[in-house]
Amino acid sequence: MGTGDAATRAEKRARLAHPIETGALVGARWSPYGFDPRPLPAAELRSLLEAARWSPSSYNEQPWRLVAARREDGEPFERLLGCLVEFNQSWARHASALVLGVVVRRFAGRDADNPAAEHDLGLATAHLMLEATARGLSTHAMIGIDAGRARAAFAIPDGFDPLTAIAIGYAGTPGDQPDKLRDRDAAPRDRKPLAEFVFGGEWGRPAPCLED
Ligand SMILES: Cc1cc2nc3c(=O)[nH]c(=O)nc-3n(C[C@H](O)[C@H](O)[C@H](O)COP(=O)(O)O)c2cc1C
Repeated sequence: MGTGDAATRAEKRARLAHPIETGALVGARWSPYGFDPRPLPAAELRSLLEAARWSPSSYNEQPWRLVAARREDGEPFERLLGCLVEFNQSWARHASALVLGVVVRRFAGRDADNPAAEHDLGLATAHLMLEATARGLSTHAMIGIDAGRARAAFAIPDGFDPLTAIAIGYAGTPGDQPDKLRDRDAAPRDRKPLAEFVFGGEWGRPAPCLED
C-alpha cells in the first residue's frame, strides 16, 4: 500500500448517510496512530499552514498562533514532542511534523476576551487537516498536551494559551506499533446519526429537514 493510499484508506472512509461533495476530503480524512517517519518537505508544510491562514474567524481576529517543527528541525521537534502527554508521545514521535496550537485569549484592539478563540483555532486546524488530506498526508489532533510544559518550552507569554497539537505525516504501520493502536487504525470510523444532534422546533427532536 502506498502512503498516499494510507491517508485515505478504504476501510476508514466515512460511511455516508447523505451524499457530500467533499467526500474525497471530509469523508476520507482519518486520524492514524501509525505514522511512517518520512521527511515532510517544508513546502508541503507551508501549504498546510497557508490553508489554516485562510480559515474564517470571528471579526477576522485570527486568534491563533502555531508552533511548527519538522522532524529534520531536530531539537525543536523533540521539544514539541516533549509537550505531549506520554501516550500521545508514544505514537506521535513517528510523525513527520508537529504543530502546537495556541489560542490568543484577548482581542487585539479591544479590552475584552474573544469568546470565539478556541472555536477559531479549531476551524483553522480543520482547514489544515483537509489540505493535508488533499495532499495524501495524514493528521491527528491532540488535546493531550501539557500546556504548562509547552508554555515554558517555547516561552509563550501570558494571554496566549497552548491548547492542542497536531501530528502530521504519512500514515503507516511502524514495526513497534502496539496491537491496540494497530486495531484502532484498522477499525471503521463511526459517528452519531444526524437525528441525534440536529434539532428543529423542539429540543431533542430531529429537525424536519432530516425527514423526506
Ligand atoms: C481537538 C481534538 C483533540 C484530540 N485529542 C486527541 C488526543 O489527545 N489523543 C488522541 O489519541 N486522539 C485525539 N484526537 C483524535 C480523535 O480521537 C479522533 O479525531 C476521533 O476519534 C475521530 O476519529 P477520526 O479523526 O479518525 O475520524 C483528538 C481530536 C480532536 C479534534
